[in-house]
Amino acid sequence: MAKRKEDRALERNDDLGYPIFVAQNVRDELLAFLRLRGRPSAILCDANRNVRVLAEEIAQAAGNVPVLRFTLGESRKRLATVERVLDAMVGVGVERSSLVLGIGGGVASDLFGFACAVYMRGVRYAHVATSLVAMVDAAIGGKTGVDLREGKNLAGCFRDPIAVFCGVDALETLPAQAFREGLAEIIKAAIIEGGDLFALLEELAPHPSRRWPWLELLPAAIKVKTMAVADDRLEAGARATLNLGHTFAHAIERASNYSITHGNAVALGLRAAGLLALRTGRFSRDEHLRVLTLLALVGLPLQTSLSPDAIFTAMRSDKKKSGGRLRFVLPRAIGDVEYGVECADRTVRAVLGRLAHPPENVRARR
Ligand code: GLY
Repeated sequence: MAKRKEDRALERNDDLGYPIFVAQNVRDELLAFLRLRGRPSAILCDANRNVRVLAEEIAQAAGNVPVLRFTLGESRKRLATVERVLDAMVGVGVERSSLVLGIGGGVASDLFGFACAVYMRGVRYAHVATSLVAMVDAAIGGKTGVDLREGKNLAGCFRDPIAVFCGVDALETLPAQAFREGLAEIIKAAIIEGGDLFALLEELAPHPSRRWPWLELLPAAIKVKTMAVADDRLEAGARATLNLGHTFAHAIERASNYSITHGNAVALGLRAAGLLALRTGRFSRDEHLRVLTLLALVGLPLQTSLSPDAIFTAMRSDKKKSGGRLRFVLPRAIGDVEYGVECADRTVRAVLGRLAHPPENVRARR
């Protein structure tokens, strides 16, 4: 059983030079921060109802800050939406010296962060993360940007926020699919980290719940991200470990024409990375099974009817990004991940073929 930390009301991580706060409810911390750093000139928020309500509350409490709402979602993570955000900021008089607050999930942090990075060549930006994906991944590490027709995140820049706020209470109203997407990223972090985080997930996974000990889980998953980013902010090397499962996942998303969502694709990608590591003699069958069991227990998919050829073709078209060669992040053990691994095409194809079949010996959700 994992060793439990004492309950704490507020966790703070400063590894990247800006604070990342995690609390049941971050409103007090956020308002104290704004009193210190200045009233925001605008709040940019996802138009989804729960986010909107939170944005209005914060806007009132911070002194009648204008709230600018945008309908988001992966299909709207485009330059056209950025232009609307920029126009709206001009409309409420955001200046170069302004602070802007963004509220929403992963798409919001990528897109609002990018808009603020380019608005008047850059205004200060803080983000209130309302989804699991944003809390443990998207809002942290300074990657901002949008999708192009040709692929995801093809336009953007690195630009750090001045603070990130993660309020656990936002998870209560998160749609089930978005919740699972976040769990896939947390499981990825646990494979990279191993240790207490993986053990805690193994303890919790048989009972998926919004009431997990988030004040323990989120800071641990965030730590995995900040440690990888702190050493390699611009992803010249070790930050790539965060892409565990993602070479497969991005290809699966593309091959499915994005009908397979990112979190589900990451789960399939983690299975594929484990299989490839097994076949190349890196990973043990027992640890591979422990990973698959975690994914299955929280309700993530391990099997797809997509054709292996379609996934492989999507992977080959992605390889242009890395000097013409496919490179993988593969587990050597739970808690030990290798990046930049090249594998023979026939081995990769064999792994993709396995994704059409359910894994053996994996305990499904009760
Ligand atoms: N999501 C992976 C990274 O931030 O590098």
